[in-house]
Amino acid sequence: MKVGVLISGRGSNLKSLIEACAAPGFPARIVVVVSNRADATGLEVAREAGIPAVAISHTDFPTREAFDAAMDAALQKAGADFICSAGFMRILSDGFVDKWRDRQLNIHPSLLPAFKGLKVHERVLEAGCRISGCTVHFVRAAMDEGPIVAQAAVPVLPGDTPETLAARVLEAEHKLYPLALRLIAEGRTKIVDERVVIEGEGTGSVPPLFAPRA
Ligand code: GAR
Repeated sequence: MKVGVLISGRGSNLKSLIEACAAPGFPARIVVVVSNRADATGLEVAREAGIPAVAISHTDFPTREAFDAAMDAALQKAGADFICSAGFMRILSDGFVDKWRDRQLNIHPSLLPAFKGLKVHERVLEAGCRISGCTVHFVRAAMDEGPIVAQAAVPVLPGDTPETLAARVLEAEHKLYPLALRLIAEGRTKIVDERVVIEGEGTGSVPPLFAPRA
């Protein structure tokens, strides 16, 4: 699987995907990284790994559709057949989402469908949650929505700040995203009625990081 990764910033999830793809036998490789911000440190992470990294500033385009078309062109040019959004903080146009339907993942730092959007950890603490976590899901038109591939839970601890909680969740993200990508690249998932069915789940062959399913 030839993966294009979309980023907007730091790129720590990108780094975890790069490291996973470098392992012998991993069934995916990253062919391009696209950032909507030229100052994203993730672009450096990509370049250091020898991966083509492209900055396409959304501010250079008159419409969301025009920006998405430029991003799509960069992905096509690199030969990408799958997308991983990794801290990509732009809403996508319906046309782009439709074109990449079932071929695009996103990671979000909460147990979706709770706490979509921004300032997740602040809101988790504000709500007094005892557990938080992260979710890898297929991308649909609505933000942070779509069939869930994998989730990992982490505890919320007394004295947590948004920063300490974010760091704990991020550590789980770095394990979860490569696992989810591997399952998909191995062809072990299918989407049935907008829910993800994983081949072999419940037989012990799927890592325990995945939340149990009813
Ligand atoms: C990650 O925590 C990711 O889950 C989040 O942005 C961070 C990016 O960090 N994404 C979202 O909130 C998407 N709605 P990174 O650039 O170090 O990977």
